[in-house]
Amino acid sequence: MPELQVSWRRLGVLVSGRGSNLQALIAAIGRRELEATIAVVISNVPGVAALDHAAAAGIETLVLPHTGWPRREAYDEALAEALHARNVEVVCLAGFMRRLSSRFLEVFQGPVLNVHPSLLPAFPGLDSPGQAVAHGVKVAGCTVHLVTAELDAGPIVAQTAVPVLPGDTGETLAARILVEEHRLLPAAVARVVAGGWRIDGRRFVDA
Ligand code: GAR
Repeated sequence: MPELQVSWRRLGVLVSGRGSNLQALIAAIGRRELEATIAVVISNVPGVAALDHAAAAGIETLVLPHTGWPRREAYDEALAEALHARNVEVVCLAGFMRRLSSRFLEVFQGPVLNVHPSLLPAFPGLDSPGQAVAHGVKVAGCTVHLVTAELDAGPIVAQTAVPVLPGDTGETLAARILVEEHRLLPAAVARVVAGGWRIDGRRFVDA
């Protein structure tokens, strides 16, 4: 008899801006390529387009501004508690431009995924496509990884390479990477929610 798999289905998506990766997740769920529900979309920035996309899809939205908290950890605890209150099992950072502390990971406990516009471990941090062009690499891309306390450094779930073309700027390269992010992120989230994986050292492998 096959072993029963634990599977996580209730997603919380954290955003800070445009929300195109959130839209890609919503579309993948609509096509049944991602068997999950987005229980809540939380933004640390009020008034961003991602909140409108969530509302248009009938998803609960919450704005939790990161300003005015006594400590970073206090904000991160409030964020984790808002997710717990909605029985969120897996968190997806989709353009969430704020670093999470280890306190968030301790309180939330479940898998937290991030999409990043570079082939990590190259070019962590901000404006990764611009960093890639300035460095002169010939291949750039995007990464979905599990979030750890170290910035953009957790176990890699999936990556897609994108060639850098002559004449590329950070903006033109970012636009081509984004197209790939929209494929990669839903597929990687589907892989994680399906279960049957484990972390071996810093590697994401089949269980
Ligand atoms: C995406 O390119 C995502 O990879 C990046 O922000 C953009 C958000 O776009 N995230 C990071 O750089 C995180 N370090 P979106 O709001 O349209 O999804």
